[in-house]
Amino acid sequence: MAKLDERIGFIGGGNMAFAIGSGLIRGGIVKPSQVLVSGPHIENLARWRELGAVTTDENYEVLEHTDIVFICVKPHMLAPCAAQLKYKHVPSAKDASKLIVSVLAGTSLQTLEEKFDFIESSGLKVIRTMPNTSMQVGEGCTVYTGNSRVTHQDLEKVHLMLNALGLAQQVPESMIDAVTGVAGCGPAFVYTMIEAMADGGVKQGVPRQMALQFAAQTMLGAAKTVLLTGKHPAVLRDEVCSPGGATIVGVHELEKGNLRATLINAVEKSSQRSAELGKK
Ligand SMILES: NC(=O)c1ccc[n+]([C@@H]2O[C@H](COP(=O)([O-])OP(=O)(O)OC[C@H]3O[C@@H](n4cnc5c(N)ncnc54)[C@H](OP(=O)(O)O)[C@@H]3O)[C@@H](O)[C@H]2O)c1
Repeated sequence: MAKLDERIGFIGGGNMAFAIGSGLIRGGIVKPSQVLVSGPHIENLARWRELGAVTTDENYEVLEHTDIVFICVKPHMLAPCAAQLKYKHVPSAKDASKLIVSVLAGTSLQTLEEKFDFIESSGLKVIRTMPNTSMQVGEGCTVYTGNSRVTHQDLEKVHLMLNALGLAQQVPESMIDAVTGVAGCGPAFVYTMIEAMADGGVKQGVPRQMALQFAAQTMLGAAKTVLLTGKHPAVLRDEVCSPGGATIVGVHELEKGNLRATLINAVEKSSQRSAELGKK
């Protein structure tokens, strides 16, 4: 696995940042000592220190001392966070090569360029991504896009990091909010389905822990089958449903409960909400 020599920063050390950072460290892409993380409450960064990363409650230290800086605050915190960084920023020759990587839902490259324009007046390098928390187990799903200042080598480095934690793909910026509804928010939809399937098992007498494990493994196996066979899910479903059998009866119940329409609506609403969050 390729390794990076750059220092990697995280401004905001919450769930998404930790999914990326811990995945990079555990995967050997970077050494813990290359990672610097900031957040307002140093006590909330204990899990980073356990991994060997360096933590601080000063965001500007991350901006100053790292080469690739992941911005991992909530979208509504971007403006105050950038204002605080601007206030403490000491211009340096390294600013021109600094790469800002955002994970913020709905927040456009243009907004990011505007908020961080104090770093490099001749044009900052910014990459907008939409990752998901499954990166913590190496099965993430990320799309990314860069502004005009970003070089091919910058994109390659970011691809190397994100792809090491699952699947990563460069897309036009116009597609990012739509993918957010599927992949960024998707793990929550799948967790809900796993829990509900397990509850069904418990209702039928399967012990809780076993029901959860079997529901999750079934989801994993079905997902892998879609990816590895390349078959359409409807074809695979037909293969499981023997005429007059048990599965088609269950599938009928899913149709009566509008599962597919509900999931389509969930993705649509989450995509729309993602776009709204960035505009606030
Ligand atoms: N979670 C997901 O599934 C997911 C998926 C894709 C994208 N994202 C994006 O990831 C970003 C973070 O989401 P999250 O789920 O990781 O949220 P989170 O767990 O709440 O993390 C946000 C972090 O920001 C820190 N923070 C708050 N104010 C700050 C400031 N002024 N400077 C530096 N750090 C500050 C918080 O620290 P304290 O806790 O100490 O206050 C917290 O650790 C969001 O923009 C979201 O759109 C999330």
